[in-house]
Amino acid sequence: MLTRNLINIEAGRDPGDSTPGEPDPSSSPFGRDLMAALGSRPRSISPKYFYDAAGSQLFDRICELPEYYPTRTELRILANNAPEIAAQIGSRAEIVEFGAGSLRKVRLLLDAMKEPARYVPIDISAEHLSQSAAALRRDYPGVDVQPVAADYTGPLRLPAPAARAGRRVGFFPGSTIGNFTPQEALRFLLGAAESLRGGALLLGADLVKDPAVLHAAYNDAQGITAAFNLNLLERANRELGARFVLGQFAHSAFYNAPERRIEMHLVSLVRQQIALAGQSHEFAEGETLHTENSYKFTVEGLRALAVAAGFRPGPVWIDADRLFSVHWLHAPG
Ligand code: AVI
Repeated sequence: MLTRNLINIEAGRDPGDSTPGEPDPSSSPFGRDLMAALGSRPRSISPKYFYDAAGSQLFDRICELPEYYPTRTELRILANNAPEIAAQIGSRAEIVEFGAGSLRKVRLLLDAMKEPARYVPIDISAEHLSQSAAALRRDYPGVDVQPVAADYTGPLRLPAPAARAGRRVGFFPGSTIGNFTPQEALRFLLGAAESLRGGALLLGADLVKDPAVLHAAYNDAQGITAAFNLNLLERANRELGARFVLGQFAHSAFYNAPERRIEMHLVSLVRQQIALAGQSHEFAEGETLHTENSYKFTVEGLRALAVAAGFRPGPVWIDADRLFSVHWLHAPG
């Protein structure tokens, strides 16, 4: 019976009601974007909202999973080719990391570089930035660590190059570029080409491969990726006063071969109403909220994208199983 299936409505409470004293979703970017996502078809929201404190911890666990090959493989590529990469970077260089990401990765570069001069992590999260900066300062007293709190997908104001500085080298590991739409990826690269003029970009990109390997990486046996995906709804409950019932949504991840991307969705397991900011949104059984794309690249495709943004492709480092690629891209002069 349809009416019986219309669950998630609390007894005696209309889903359109809003209660005084509850958080106002329209006062935060997450709330505004979730309201827009729920009100549109197909429903989709930016994957950037995965990364609250709980989501960032779950992502760290994903990186350790046996099925999730990208982190491990990229680290191995960086470690195995560190002398060659360091030679490209040159002496007294400045590393600009887009996202104050995995310190393990940038340490591999700093350890191999000749007289690294400066490290500039850029991140929207001031807390993440100060942690990265403090850890790096402690371990690399000779490196000038200058965090920049900003959204690295927008226009950037970087500190002026130091006197006698070497090259400015951007570092964007992890295939985070794959979480952008193709237009966003091009826009990001155009911005990076501008900020890195005269220098280069070291970019990690996941490769197109056997869909079974991709499927396993995004559907791990321990369910950590499912928890990471579902945390988006938990975050909405915590921060926005939404009332998603977690058991009524399931994680779904599959490879869309024509688009060369993994898609992650949250699938409604029943017909249900979701109340947010005084609006009621119906999910049919099987209807989804699209939460992430993770594009996979060919080496040629990635190089063509970089050329379109003004870079000149240099060496590419790839593991023996051709799972992942790390690209050296010369920025325009
Ligand atoms: C951060 N990003 C590159 C990861 C990826 O593989 O697209 C995020 C992720 N989503 C599910 N698992 C990992």
